Amino acid sequence: MNTILETRNLTYGYSEEEHAIEDLSLQFEEGKTTAILGANGAGKSTLFLHLNGILKPEHGQVLFHGEPISYTKSGLRKLRSKVGIVFQNPDDQLFSASVYQDISFGACNLGLPKDEVRARVEGMMEQIGITDLRDRPTHSLSFGQKKRVSFAGIMVMQPEVIILDEPTAGLDPVGVSELMHLLKRVCKQQNTTIILSTHDIDVIPVYADEIFVMDKGKLLTKGTPKEIFSQPELLRYHHLRLPRLSHMLEILQKEDGLDVDFSESTISGARRQVLNCIKQTQEA
Ligand SMILES: Nc1ncnc2c1ncn2[C@@H]1O[C@H](COP(=O)(O)OP(=O)(O)O)[C@@H](O)[C@H]1O
Ligand SMILES: [Mg+2]
Repeated sequence: MNTILETRNLTYGYSEEEHAIEDLSLQFEEGKTTAILGANGAGKSTLFLHLNGILKPEHGQVLFHGEPISYTKSGLRKLRSKVGIVFQNPDDQLFSASVYQDISFGACNLGLPKDEVRARVEGMMEQIGITDLRDRPTHSLSFGQKKRVSFAGIMVMQPEVIILDEPTAGLDPVGVSELMHLLKRVCKQQNTTIILSTHDIDVIPVYADEIFVMDKGKLLTKGTPKEIFSQPELLRYHHLRLPRLSHMLEILQKEDGLDVDFSESTISGARRQVLNCIKQTQEA
């Protein structure tokens, strides 16, 4: 596995008294989906603003492909064409008159030929199912539509890494799974590494390969969803919880004495656990 992005001893504070990020060393693996899990104020957004050079560390470093990032104008431009960020609030992202203009902005800035920009933008709108929005003013879109347009505007640059800050916040349940499926599909096609933050724990088991749990600007623990969700006490202590399905399996194990593994947190995993139990009971 190759590390694509890395922080080393990253420390940052918005004020002198308090650090939003403290001595944080993380490695993001190329090609994986890494989820940063943490309660509000844990430092997720602050970390992300460092990963594409919007904020500069007070101490420590951010490295892309093993090289410390350069904060010169051209260094940052280059970095941001490879490491794209989709902000939590699409109104912080969208500013052009029309959807088409907004999506093409980043790709135009790469200095690509006009035909190439047009082909990328039209292809991406098609893939994301927003072709019919092309001439709409961005301010007239729904929240979910704005999210798609923001994502498209980053993906047309064909970045190596996409950072998604709370991609599902503010969406209804159907919107959440639609958007997450879409993100995964498009990123898989372009082989884009995904780093996302969320406090929506039920989203994680289905979409993340690796989880970093943060609290108060520090890394609490990291691991696969299975490893993380086998530690309910740790999560609860830090104002987080298990995914619903794991929680149900935990109750079946602890209250009802069933032999189930509650670190399973997807529907298929939980289903297997319950079916196994039924089978064992029938055989006994
Ligand atoms: N622009 C800002 N000015 C001052 N403090 C901030 C600002 N943004 C975030 N903070 C503080 O930094 C800490 C981390 O916040 P943030 O990175 O937004 O966490 P998260 O994204 O996990 O909710 C919090 O204590 C928050 O209040
Ligand atoms: Mg945040």
